[in-house]
Parts: sequence; C-alpha cells; structure tokens
Amino acid sequence: MAQVTTRVAIIGAGPAGLLLGIALHRAGIDFVILENRSREYVLGRVRAGVLEQGSVETLTRLGVGDRLARDGLVHDGIYLQFAGERHHVDFTALIGRTVTVYGQQEVVKDLMAEHDRLGSDARYEVADVAPHGLDGSAPTVTFTSDGRQHELAADFVVGADGFHGVSRASIPADQITIYEREYPYAWLGILANVAPSTDELIYCLHEDGFAMHSMRSHSVSRLYLQVDPTESIDAWSDARIWDALHTRLGVPGWTLHEGEVTEKSITPMRSFVASRLDYGRLFLVGDAGHIVPPTGAKGLNSALSDVTMLAAALIDFFAGDERKLAEYGTAALARQWRTQQFSQWMTEMLHRRPGDNAATAFDYRSQLGELSYVTGSDYAMQMLAEQYTGLKL
Ligand code: APR
Ligand code: PHB
Repeated sequence: MAQVTTRVAIIGAGPAGLLLGIALHRAGIDFVILENRSREYVLGRVRAGVLEQGSVETLTRLGVGDRLARDGLVHDGIYLQFAGERHHVDFTALIGRTVTVYGQQEVVKDLMAEHDRLGSDARYEVADVAPHGLDGSAPTVTFTSDGRQHELAADFVVGADGFHGVSRASIPADQITIYEREYPYAWLGILANVAPSTDELIYCLHEDGFAMHSMRSHSVSRLYLQVDPTESIDAWSDARIWDALHTRLGVPGWTLHEGEVTEKSITPMRSFVASRLDYGRLFLVGDAGHIVPPTGAKGLNSALSDVTMLAAALIDFFAGDERKLAEYGTAALARQWRTQQFSQWMTEMLHRRPGDNAATAFDYRSQLGELSYVTGSDYAMQMLAEQYTGLKL
C-alpha cells in the first residue's frame, strides 16, 4: 500500500474543497485533495451563479478573483414580480452592498487553474475513499487510484464531498441527527444562448407557479420554472418551456428573448442540515453538512463561508491556538441556520403550493400580501437586501 502523510486530507474537489486547499496553501499548510470524479466531470456541472459580496472578497483575497473581477456582472439588486408587476429591490440604495453574477462552474475553473499553477497534490478519479480513526488523533483516508491501494495519513480530515459523500456518512449514526424537509416542487432550469432580457435577476410568483430569469454572461441566459417534482424533462419541449416562461414572466412593454437551449434539467428542492459539522478529527464543509433550496442563491455562498471559517481555524490551530477549531462546528452551524431560514422564506414566499383547494387559494393570496408588504417597505427590503448580499460570518 502506497503511503502519504499530510496535514489536511480534503475529500471532494467541488468549490469548497478546492478553495480550502488554496487558503491552506497561502498559509503554508500541506494538504491533499481526493476527488472520485474526473476533472472534466467536476468542471461540467452546471450550478448556481450568484456570489455574495463576502464571497467575492474571499476569492479576491485568496488571489483567485482576477477573472471574476473582469467577467463577473455586478448587480445592484433584484426584481420581485407578482400580480403582473415588477418591483426593483435596490440593494445599493438600501444598504450599499452588491452581488456578483458569475457561474459556479467559472469559480471551479479558476480554483482548478490555481491548483495547477501551484502544483497541488489534487487526485481525481480515485475510488473507495474511506476515512478511518476519526475519533483518535491520527486519522487516515484510504483510497484506490491507478489500481493501487493508498493510505493518506493526516492531522485532520475535511469532508467537502457534497450531499452524497462518504464523510458525513462516516459519523456514527447515533452521533448525528439530520434535520430536513422536502418541498412539493422542483426547478426546471435551462441555459440558453441569448442575451439576458433583463438587467437584474427576476424572481416571479405567478398563478401558474414560480419563474426566474437569471444569467451567466452578456450572451447566456439562465431561466427556471417551478414544476412538479415528479415531472419528466422529456415532457418539456423547448417550445413548452418558452411558452411557460412568457406566460409567467411577461409584463406589459417587456419582451423575453428566446435562444437556443443548450442545457435543461429538473432539480428537486430540499432543506437539509446535519446536527454537527465536526466529529473528532473530521470537519464538514458545504453541501456535505447542509443543503438549501436555491431560491436565495445561498448554496455556493454558504459552502464558501464554511471554508473561510474552517481555514482560519486550521491556520490558528497550526500556529498553536486551538480555540477557533473547537468552535468551528457551532459557529458554522449558527450561520447556516440563519441562511436556511432566509432560503426557506424566499422559497415559500415565491412558489405556488400544489393543489387546487381553499387552503392553497388562501396561501397564494397571503403570499401576494407578503410580497406587496415587502416591496412597499424599506425596512423589509433592507432585511432582504442584507441577507441576499450575505450575512457577516
Ligand atoms: N470521494 C471523493 N470525492 C467525492 C466523494 C467521495 N466518496 N463523494 C463526492 N465527492 C465529490 C463530488 O464528486 C464533488 O466533486 O465531492 C465534491 C463535492 O462538491 P459539491 O457537490 O460541488 O459540493 P461543495 O463543494 O460543498 O459545493 C457546494 O455545490 O451543490 C452545489 O448548491 C451547492 O453551490 C453549492 C455547492
Ligand atoms: C442561477 O443563476 O442559477 C441562480 C440565480 C439565483 C438563484 C438561483 C440560481 O437564486
């Protein structure tokens, strides 16, 4: 068995694992990244695209913000649309903060390029990744690569391996509780080769359900429709999708421009939080520890905020101060629950509950009342703006 020793074994090369590696490198702390997929697969996953101001600052501070500064689209706010009217929520005017539209795929591309430049030990297409000895002082991670067995010995193991990873699953079942809920709707998302028809993202509640107009660049649009979670993508031709988008997003005097659809998929929506993000020598970051529904654009941002906290804690630890590392799980979870409630609030305010009955008819009208209140109150819009642009760590 081939053996390697490092300080921090990072499982998963998504945005969380890759960014942690760069933060550790900047502090001179040795790490190895283990990823079970290929680089091309990781680079090809289409995900969200809004960066909080704090996420932009983190990427910039860590020296991976050049392309983001050049190609990222800085947005001053969002539109909330309901009852056929579009309302601007102006973050800059309300609280002096912004967000930046830049695809998660682009973030991953920048992080991988930096690891290539640094010559990092990041191993792709490894199999059978398994952490051991997490409750002792000398954990290891075993894996198979190029047909050989390997053992990585480390001071710490970081689970950055997403919702389906092995890290969270290696915490004994009687030591962890999962808090979760599924929503009775899903998002059908498309990427289209067409200039965005809007300057800001549009979040829209329509009688037929939620719709959203987002973007990736000046020439690529990203659009979403609320659909039933049991829907098959085959039932949605491009023409049917555009039809529904025109109906839900349409307002007088505005045109939604269509373009070639290059990607389409349906994603279920869930809220999920593990009761702990630490177990002995294991620390969880990002989707391994929590999932938000996408309505508030918090998935990537909360992964990056975990990493910022954990990197600072590990750097302190290796400099002789253990306090932040002891507090990581509690501090990161507290922030995560604040983010969860915001994502749940945005989600429930903007989606139609399924079913055609007196209760759903009531709920829809109550949601319209809530949106009317929010868009009519500077206090409420400030609350939204503060959370959308990102809470402090
Ligand atoms: N061994 C090694 N790697 C693994 C394993 C395993 N057993 N299981 C999963 N992985 C890898 C996945 O292939 C993936 O590349 O871990 C990585 C986890 O990356 P993400 O799922 O992107 O999670 P994270 O880095 O936490 O980023 C969170 O992704 O899902 C979105 O909305 C979410 O934007 C947020 C971001
Ligand atoms: C996206 O562009 O993919 C996106 C934007 C905002 C969201 C969710 C997804 O809230």
